Amino acid sequence: MLIHSIYEGKKMQKIIIACLLIFISINIIKIPTALGVEITKGGELFQIHCVGCHAKGGNIVRRWKNLKIRTLKKNKLDSVEAIAYLVKNGKNNMSAYKDRLTETEIETVSAYVLEQAENGWR
Ligand code: HEC
Repeated sequence: MLIHSIYEGKKMQKIIIACLLIFISINIIKIPTALGVEITKGGELFQIHCVGCHAKGGNIVRRWKNLKIRTLKKNKLDSVEAIAYLVKNGKNNMSAYKDRLTETEIETVSAYVLEQAENGWR
C-alpha cells in the first residue's frame, strides 16, 4: 500500500511537471504572436488610411515630406510620440485622424511607420 502511494505520488508529480511545461510553452509562444498582431494591425491601418498618399513611405502630395527615416529625423519626427501627434492633429494638406482613429490605433500605426522607416520600407 505504501509503495503504491509513493508510486502514485511520483506519477502525480510527473503530471504536474508536464502541465507546467505545457503552460510555460504556451506562454512563450503567445508573446511573439501578440507582438505580431500589433504589427499586422499597424500595417492594416496603414493600408486603409495612409497608403493612398504614403505608399512605400513616399508622399505623393509633398514629395519631400516622405516617411523615410532621414526625412523623419530631419523633421524631428523619428519617435512614435511625434508621429502620433502629427497623425492625430494633421498638418497642412494632411488631415487630422483624431476623429477617425482611436488613440491606440494612432499609436499602433505610428509605431508601424517608424519601424518601416527604420527598415527602409522594404
Ligand atoms: C491625403 C493624403 C495623405 C494621407 C491619406 C496621409 N497623409 Fe501623411 N502627409 C501628407 C502630407 C501632404 C504631408 C506633409 C505635411 C506637411 O506639410 O508637413 C504628410 C506628412 C506626414 C508625416 C510627416 C512626414 C515628414 O517627414 O515631415 C507623417 C509621419 C505622416 N504624414 C504619416 C501619415 C500616416 C501615419 C497616415 C495614415 C494615418 C497619413 N500620413 C495619411 C498627406 C497624407
